[in-house]
Amino acid sequence: MDRSTQLKLKQAASNILEENVFSGVVDTGYTAASGSLYPFQWLWDTFFIAGWTENVDQGIQDVEKFLASQADNGFLGHIRYNREVLAHKEYFPGPEIYFPDGLPPFGEITSKITQPPNAAYGIWELAGKIINPVKKKAFLGSIYPKVFKYHQYLYDHLVLNSLMVTIHPWQAGDDNSPKWDLVYEKINHQYDTHSEVVAWLTQLGLPFQRLDTKLLNDDQRPIKSDYDIYLFLIKLYNQYGWDEKTILSRSPFRICEPLTNSVLLRSNLCLKNIAQSLGQIEDLKIIDRWIEITKQGLESLYDPKTFIYNSLDLNSRKLIKIPTVSGLMPLFSLGISVERAAELAVTIRQLHSDHPNFSLIPSTFPNDPHFEPNRYWRGPTWIITNTLLSDSLRHYGHHKLAALLDEHSLTLVNDSLDDRGGFFEYFNPVTKAGLGSPKQSWTAAAVIKILS
Ligand code: GLC
Repeated sequence: MDRSTQLKLKQAASNILEENVFSGVVDTGYTAASGSLYPFQWLWDTFFIAGWTENVDQGIQDVEKFLASQADNGFLGHIRYNREVLAHKEYFPGPEIYFPDGLPPFGEITSKITQPPNAAYGIWELAGKIINPVKKKAFLGSIYPKVFKYHQYLYDHLVLNSLMVTIHPWQAGDDNSPKWDLVYEKINHQYDTHSEVVAWLTQLGLPFQRLDTKLLNDDQRPIKSDYDIYLFLIKLYNQYGWDEKTILSRSPFRICEPLTNSVLLRSNLCLKNIAQSLGQIEDLKIIDRWIEITKQGLESLYDPKTFIYNSLDLNSRKLIKIPTVSGLMPLFSLGISVERAAELAVTIRQLHSDHPNFSLIPSTFPNDPHFEPNRYWRGPTWIITNTLLSDSLRHYGHHKLAALLDEHSLTLVNDSLDDRGGFFEYFNPVTKAGLGSPKQSWTAAAVIKILS
């Protein structure tokens, strides 16, 4: 792509981010995950966007707003539900599903599950762009205790046997990945999830009306029975009183997966950088221990035969061997060896030579029988995961492969501009069609990151 096209694309990306800033009366000025489909701040979207935007002041504001929703014990929810949006816009599922006794009358409202913990990563990236050293120190100083507390929460409540446990597909960020299918089958065998969910929502006075399938074609979104599981798990955790110990010991959905743990490891490295820059020497030992724990855990998910990381189902104690982009994400952790990174690069090159006309990197690999090129995390190419991987491939010295990945990402986005503003949430790797929400903030932020 020539330089002038790149510059135009970058400008268009900045415009999208500007357009997606919500400006209400009370709660002004935060970057929504997208203008239409996702009108709130999502956890991992927020920290990637803030880390990569060129509008540093907006980034700082986004981070501060999101962290204002932190619970006393350090927990951060995957959605910060803005009250003004709730009052004016239809959204499903709303926060009521997490609060069966009614929403808190004032203050922040979040969901009760978290997301891949990239807060420290985003903050460290953002801090690198604050030129004034006094401003930078003040920002990091005020934010650091909150992020440290978040990691403390994760290690105290969600890490088991060296790995952070995913207790809900929404927590993993790749909601309907086929890696969960077998687990869903077992849940459906044990419970009549649909009837239970309908009865529960009726009790809460909430209609079971999905908004995503109103706005988009069904074939781009999770199927109905997946949605039953998502809601069923929330209902179950309400019954458990959201007690993490109970959830981690009894939930039918307890999975350790590479994406989350890679993000956690990378964020620990960033948290260490922040602590060092602030002279928080006494915390370094704790952070180093977290780094070691997660490194060890992540390594236990590696399959040396297929050169990819797998997920571990804590209920069956079996590895889930379905090749998805999540299995490559340990590159992003920067905590794997050079040899491992080279093996993951081989996997990506192989995928490319097997399917030279496909845009890299399909979220589920095309040789897997579950591959569906239009459906969300079951095949489409996501610019966000591409960007995390290209940046990390460069770190490990695989410059050509990184450049190829970036070229695929930029071409997909650039060719989509005439369709509803482009910058789609994901793309069909075969037809190159833009899918999901157009004008998705993290797609725009990723383009800025690639072109910076
Ligand atoms: C979808 C994605 C999730 C993301 C959210 C907002 O739910 O699966 O990872 O955070 O959209 O963009």
